[in-house]
This record gives sequence, structure tokens and C-alpha cells, in this order.
Amino acid sequence: MRQELSSREQWSSKLGFVLAAVGSAVGLGNLWGFAYRSSEGGGAAFVILYLLVVLVVCLPIFVAEFSLGRNTSSSAFLAPIKAAGSNWAPLGWLFIIAPVAIASYYAVIMGWTLDIFVQSLFVGLPDDIDQASKIFSSINNGNRDFIGQIFSLLLGGFIVSGGINKGIEKINKICMPILFILLVFLVIWAAFLDKSGEGYSNYLFNFDIKQLTNITTIRYAFSQAFFSLSLGIGIMVTYASYLNKKSKLPSQAIQIASLDTVVGLMAGLITFPIIFTFGLGETIKSSTLATLFITIPTGLGQYGLAGRIIAIAFFGLAYIAAITSLISLLEIPVSTLIDKFGLKRNFSAYATVFIIFLIGIPSVISTEFLANVDSLANILLIAGGFLVSFLIGWVVPKTLDIELTNSGSSPLVKTYLKFSLKYVTPIIVAAGLIVSIYDLLIKWTNSI
Ligand code: PHE
Repeated sequence: MRQELSSREQWSSKLGFVLAAVGSAVGLGNLWGFAYRSSEGGGAAFVILYLLVVLVVCLPIFVAEFSLGRNTSSSAFLAPIKAAGSNWAPLGWLFIIAPVAIASYYAVIMGWTLDIFVQSLFVGLPDDIDQASKIFSSINNGNRDFIGQIFSLLLGGFIVSGGINKGIEKINKICMPILFILLVFLVIWAAFLDKSGEGYSNYLFNFDIKQLTNITTIRYAFSQAFFSLSLGIGIMVTYASYLNKKSKLPSQAIQIASLDTVVGLMAGLITFPIIFTFGLGETIKSSTLATLFITIPTGLGQYGLAGRIIAIAFFGLAYIAAITSLISLLEIPVSTLIDKFGLKRNFSAYATVFIIFLIGIPSVISTEFLANVDSLANILLIAGGFLVSFLIGWVVPKTLDIELTNSGSSPLVKTYLKFSLKYVTPIIVAAGLIVSIYDLLIKWTNSI
């Protein structure tokens, strides 16, 4: 045990850990997921529900996942068993199945992003929406899709095989500052578009009280919160297992969640002005997954060279955000192969990537399949969130106690988190889970 602990890699600094966790959280979910979920009718009600879920439910779960990881110093698959015995093995399995499922389609969407980036760089942008749709369907068709998916997986495997410090930490330290600079630049640029005001008001002030109780809006709010924060999936457990004993878990949870939420909101401040300025509102309503990949190039195509530069910045930004998320998804199975079977990191990384490639093939072939895996995976995340809060709140509350004491947390923070993980979080997440499963079942039965 001791040997295992001392040979385990650690983040070289607090900043390294926070950046890696933010790198995992900030991804296509913020840019693509947020835009499409908030535009599908929920409007401001969706944003409000999402913020509430983050604040009331996700923050305590963050601390719960951190505590579980740091306390057990194990990868996500083993951590629940180490903490509470073999009855909790199913949670370990969930922590393997969910990231593999998400990575399998995430890499496909990364492929689309890369393709549009390369097109903007070397070819140019579409003239109108028809041309953009044609370009998207050619990207989203067979062989071209595979190239982007395979490239992204290999790049992810390569970074993860470098390890915690030389791979994951290093790439996040480079990418995250670039990402923030690009983001601020794009928000400012979008603010000067003709109809930016209309875009903002449709995004933030389009409030319909009935939407607060709409079950699809509720499912979207839960899905978006868990997906965007990379919660309920074991990533924060795994990343915290490389943490030294002193770092302050609650304040790091707040930092990571706020940065991620700010990026999500900022992404809306970019996409909505574009959509309204270029009159793409109808397209965005009828499409879901493809929104980002059709409307944005079309909008920017009307701006000549300047538009092209913005497209390069936007899709470059999205790709950078995505790669730092993909590596976190890969790290969960990879760290499990290392911890449980003593395999070499290099081998584990490429074996994981290969299996994910195989599982991702149907998502390459069918966008509908991809969308269904996405909906299902989001349910797994909410279920994971429920189980983690139940585990830490009810089964092994001592783990939380020890870790909060190590973090030097004040009695008030301790009481709040203990109370919340026992009586508030599990109940709200359970309700969210039931509503989400119900909504998804209705959606699926309607579509048969
Ligand atoms: N949070 C990432 C995003 O918003 C996606 C992700 C989900 C990454 C779950 C890891 C785990 O794109």
C-alpha cells in the first residue's frame, strides 16, 4: 500500500490540478451542448435551472468525488470498492462504462470540429446555409469522419501516454490560457455584430415560466450540468487521486465549477449574436447536434477574410477545449489498467484508444446513434452523481470528514457539505434522474 502511494504520480502544483480539471470540464459541452440545449425552447429557464443544479447539487458532488479520490488514492474503478467494499463495485463499473461511451462519440464530434477548422484554414467558408449543410453531410459521411475520429483518438492516446505531469498537466498548462484568450476575443467580436442585442435577449431574457417545469428542460439542465462539469463519471475521483493531502478541496471545487460555468455562458454570448445577426434562428431550431457545424460557418462566411479568421479561431478553440476533455475521459480506463493490472501506461493508453475506436464506429456511421449514446451517457452521469453523493453522504461519511479536515475547512463549510450530501443532494439528483429517464423514454417511444 505504502509503496503504491509513494510511486503514484502527483500534480506538480495546485494550479496544474485546477487547470487539468478545468480542462476536462471545459469542452465541446460548453460550446456545442450549451448552445443547442439552450436554444431548444428552454431559453432562460434552462439557464436558470442549469445554474441551480450546478450550485445546489454539483458543488457538493464535486467535493464528494474529490474526497473519494484523494482518500483512496485510487483510480475511479477501484475507489468505491476501497472506500466501501465490493458491494460498490457497480459504481466502479459505471466509472468505466460512462467515459468509454462518451469518448466513443466525443472523438467523432472532435473529428467534425477538426474538419471544419481545416476547411476554414485551407479552403474557405460556405456561401449559404445549403452549401454549409452539404459540406456538413459530406464531413459526416463515412471515410472522412473516420479520419477525424482516429486522429483525435491517437492524439489523445499520445498525450495520456505521457503521464500526469509530462502529458496531461503540460498540455493543459499550454492550452487553457490560449483558450481563454481566444474566448474573450470572440465574445468581444460578437458583441459588435449587428444583432448582438437581439441574440443576447433571446438567449438570456427569453424567459417562459412554464419551461421551469418542462421535463425536457429539466433533463437538459441536469445533463448539461453533469456533462459540462465532467461529474458523476469518476474523472474528478481520478484526478484527485493524484493530489497531495493538503490542497483545499471545497475551494478548488468552487474555482473549477465557476470557470466552467463562465465559459459556458460566454460561449452563449458568442453563438447567439452570430445566430441572430445572420438570421439562422430557424436552422438552429430544427437542428440539434449539427447546429454549431452548420450555422457558425454559414454566418461567418458572410464576413469575408475576417469571418474566416474568426472561424479558424472558433473551431481551433473548440478543438483545444475538446482535446483536454478527451484526455480526461481516457485517463479513467487508462489509470484503471495501470492500477488494477499493473500494465504499462503506454500500452494502456493505446489499448484504450483502440477499444474506444471500435465502440465508436456506429457513431461515425450514424448521427442518430451518436445522439442516442449521448442521451444515455448523460443519464449514466446523473446516476453516477446520485451514487457518489449517497456513498459519501450515507455509507462512508467519515471519508468526507477526514478530507475536509485535511483541507482545513471551516466548521461552517463542513456542516453545510455534510448536511447537503446527506439530505439535499441525493434527493434532488434522484428526482432529476427519474425525470430524465422518464423524459428520455417518452422521447424514444415517440420516435419508434
Ligand atoms: N465536460 C466536457 C465538456 O463539456 C465533456 C466531458 C464529460 C468530459 C464528461 C469528461 C467527462 O465537453
